[in-house]
Amino acid sequence: MQTVPVDQLTSQEVVDTTRQFNYGTWRRQKNWTPLHIVDAEGCDFIDSAGKRYLDFSAQLMCVNLGHKNPAVIEAIVEQARTLPYIAPGYATTVRAELSRLLLEVLPAGLVKFFFTTSGTEANEAAIKIARMFTGKTKIIARYRSYHGSTMASIGATGDPRRWPLEPGGKGGGIVFAPEVNCYRCPIKHTYPDCNIACADYLEHMIENESDVAAVIVEPVVGTNGVLVPPSEYFPRLRQICDRHNVLLIADEVMSGWGRTGRWFAVDHWKVQPDILVTAKGITSAYVPLGLCATTARIAAYFDDNYFAHGHTYEAHPMTLAPAIATIREMQRLKLVERSSTMGDYLGSKLMALAKSHPSIGEIRGLGLFWAVDLVKNRKTKEPLNTKAEKIAGKPLVVDQVAAEMMKNGVAVQPWISHLVLAPPLIIEKQDIDVGVAVLDSALSLADRFVEA
Ligand SMILES: Cc1ncc(COP(=O)(O)O)c(C=O)c1O
Repeated sequence: MQTVPVDQLTSQEVVDTTRQFNYGTWRRQKNWTPLHIVDAEGCDFIDSAGKRYLDFSAQLMCVNLGHKNPAVIEAIVEQARTLPYIAPGYATTVRAELSRLLLEVLPAGLVKFFFTTSGTEANEAAIKIARMFTGKTKIIARYRSYHGSTMASIGATGDPRRWPLEPGGKGGGIVFAPEVNCYRCPIKHTYPDCNIACADYLEHMIENESDVAAVIVEPVVGTNGVLVPPSEYFPRLRQICDRHNVLLIADEVMSGWGRTGRWFAVDHWKVQPDILVTAKGITSAYVPLGLCATTARIAAYFDDNYFAHGHTYEAHPMTLAPAIATIREMQRLKLVERSSTMGDYLGSKLMALAKSHPSIGEIRGLGLFWAVDLVKNRKTKEPLNTKAEKIAGKPLVVDQVAAEMMKNGVAVQPWISHLVLAPPLIIEKQDIDVGVAVLDSALSLADRFVEA
């Protein structure tokens, strides 16, 4: 094949070249036709034909500041001029500044930081640190969860993205617990009469498994349905972990950075995890950065014990400078507070849709983080499609709904039988109105699958 200068490629050639030479993630490769995107600004992104799309899920629930924030771009440019790379063993001003700033916004007590270049790697670090610190092996995770794509983090992932690696391919030592899911309780209880039995069952597991190093949870489950726990759940889980000397790891890769109307989701319940993992919104996703934050107790252990972890790109200066700018922009624009108020507005508009769409089983969320859970039957809560159909590559109703919305200029993330709505935190009411109106019309597609 002849090499052609990039600026001469037609849009079709860009798409064809991408399909031919690159893997599309989490899918069968056949029929992958990625849209050619050429620009993005604020809450919109733009394709090669000039069509604008409202980014109603902030890409992968990560562009929290919206696209092309000038302060973040400037921080990247400035850092590239000052010191684009230096090995993690050296001290840098940018790392010191970010570390001090993190102390201002993270839940109290998280005081020592390991930087990565993804949420996946931050979870890998958390699992290794938990095992080294406790001298124990097992990690309890929950079924409705996603923790990343590498061996330990996909092994700890409860959702079906783990299945193609079973049975021998995933990392060992993971045990799955029931999730907290009051809409479809996995142990068939009803809140509040259940007295949070799903948390108590975790204690039963810890007692019977033995050798449990940590429990890893998404405080508000993200892709797997924006599951918000009842207020008693986290304080109970914290007590259980403390009783058994088991670490609590909060995976806030998606739920952090103002997404739920607090800096971090655990702030809603004033619970301090032993390890907090985050990524995505930490730089508004402009540059790949993840963070594994630990307590002083864990930090002290490694004073005299070997910290057996590291990367060439750990604390990479180019990843840290945009995080400082992102946090300052969030503070300047009061985006955490805004997420809460605009989230109430989005939530109430979504709830209103339930009256006219029988396919809506439940609308749930917190801050600017919402799920529209679609069902065949409101009484039985049977989903429109199953996990097995997703992995088998069957056409899913939620994908049709999302495709219809794309046609009408609104991008959302579908997953099995629900949509995750998580717009940039800068979104205005008019854009929320547009997004919800387009969803309203696309949902008639899902209504057709509702049982008579
Ligand atoms: C809760 C959670 N943890 C971990 C990850 C993995 O992060 P990354 O894709 O940056 O590796 C994700 C990604 O969506 C996530 O939502």
